[in-house]
Formats: sequence, C-alpha cells, structure tokens
Amino acid sequence: MSSQHAVIIGGSSGIGLATARLLLDRGFKVTITGRDRAKLDAAAAGLDGDISAIVMDASEVSSLREVFTTIGPLDHLVLALGGGHGAGPFATVDLSDLKKGFEQKTIAHFACAQAALPHLSKEGSITFVSAVSAQAAMPGTAGLGAINAAIAALTPILAVELKPIRVNCVSPGVVDTPWWDFLTEEQKAPTFAGFGARTPVGRVGRSDEIADAIAFLIGNGFTSGHTLICDGGVRLGQ
Ligand SMILES: NC(=O)c1ccc[n+]([C@@H]2O[C@H](COP(=O)([O-])OP(=O)(O)OC[C@H]3O[C@@H](n4cnc5c(N)ncnc54)[C@H](OP(=O)(O)O)[C@@H]3O)[C@@H](O)[C@H]2O)c1
Repeated sequence: MSSQHAVIIGGSSGIGLATARLLLDRGFKVTITGRDRAKLDAAAAGLDGDISAIVMDASEVSSLREVFTTIGPLDHLVLALGGGHGAGPFATVDLSDLKKGFEQKTIAHFACAQAALPHLSKEGSITFVSAVSAQAAMPGTAGLGAINAAIAALTPILAVELKPIRVNCVSPGVVDTPWWDFLTEEQKAPTFAGFGARTPVGRVGRSDEIADAIAFLIGNGFTSGHTLICDGGVRLGQ
C-alpha cells in the first residue's frame, strides 16, 4: 500500500476520475479538482479511500499558486483537464476558439505544473495528458494537434529541467468519456463505430485503460521524458 499523495487536475470525470479510482485502489491519498462543485462532489462521493475534492479553474492562472498552497505537499501531479476548443477543419477553424483551446489546455497544464512545483516531492512525478491528435495526421484536428503537441514537446524538456522529478505524458486516442457529450447519444454511437473501424484494436478506448497508462508512469521510477501513446493504434491510420 502507498500513502503517496496524487493530485489530479480534472479529476471529476472521464480519464481523471478513472485515474483517481485506480490510485485510490492502490492506496494513494488522492485530491481531485474541477470547476463544477456539484460534479466534483458527486465524483468524490462515488470513490472509496482517502479522497479530497477542491474546486478550481486551471485556466484562471493567477489563482493557482494559492490553490496549490491550500492543497499542500504532493508526490504526483496528473494534468487531466481539457475541453474540445480548437477542433475543426483548418480552413474554417475559429481562431478565437483555437486561442481558448490553448488557454484551457496548453497554458492551463503549464501553469498548474508551475504552481505545483514548490509543493512537489523531488521523488515524485508530473504526468500530462495530451492527445493522439499530436501524433496522428487526422484532418480536422490541426488546432487540437497543435494544442496537444505543445504539451508533448514540454515533457522531455521538463524531465531534464526539473530532474530528479520525473515528467511524462500519456497521449490517448479516442476514449468514451463525457468529453464527447457535445454529441447526442444518437450521434455518439456512429461516431465511435467510425473511429473503432479506423483503429487496429477495433474499438474506441475506455477511461480505465488510459488510467492504467497514467498509473504505470506514476509508478515506474525509471521512466522520464516519455510520451506513452495509448490509442489502440488509431494513429497508424487504416
Ligand atoms: N476522451 C477522449 O477521446 C480524449 C482523447 C484524447 C485526449 N483526451 C484528453 O484527455 C483529457 C481528459 O479528457 P476526458 O476525456 O477525461 O474529458 P472529461 O470527461 O470532459 O474530463 C475533463 C475534466 O477536466 C475538468 N476541467 C475541464 N476544464 C477545466 C479547468 N479549466 N480547470 C479545472 N478542471 C477542468 C472537468 O471538470 P469541470 O468541467 O467541472 O471543470 C473534468 O473533470 C483532456 O485533456 C482531453 O483533451 C481525451
């Protein structure tokens, strides 16, 4: 059993919530964060173990140092927040939406890692969650790819600059989470079937599969500066 403290930014749903569940099962103390109090409380109520929940908006960068002072010492930071801003065909993608995408993912991840640093154990780790749009040449993802490639680019640099803290990244493929709730249930089924058909394993992913990859990077003390692609092979195209 571990008594290490993991803080999951964006832990109230999807990949972050699945990671919280897995780490709690493994004996970690876990703090989850999100913007929506009711959603966060519901998520925490569904978890067993040493769990805390803190409301914060990671895109409000001026408040982050205070938030991490409130959280206190931590061993592992997981950046699992992000929305869908910046998606769409290159010719028509809305530039203010693209800017919002960078602010709400790239800058938010960067700023959270920076604010957490004074409280982060030197034996600990940072795990970013990027996206396979950074590796796959999928039309319609130029904005998302740029937003997520910036996070993947940050990873090896920080692994060297922040040593001995380990810094890694998970790059998920298409995963069935509330991230896709901009679609109706009727739209989701054919969308996921379409992605599944283009994915060598023949389906979209589950949040617990991405959580497993994150937990590996947290637990393996000899892995740093690595982006672990967990995408069922969708980046390979078929
Ligand atoms: N699902 C996929 O297919 C997929 C594929 C590749 C990569 N990803 C990446 O994986 C990460 C997690 O996505 P997910 O699928 O788990 O989505 P999700 O279910 O929508 O979860 C996102 C989490 O982030 C929180 N959040 C969003 N913006 C925030 C902010 N500004 N400050 C603090 N918390 C914030 C959300 O809670 P609140 O809304 O209450 O703040 C929620 O807890 C994202 O970075 C996403 O880009 C997802």
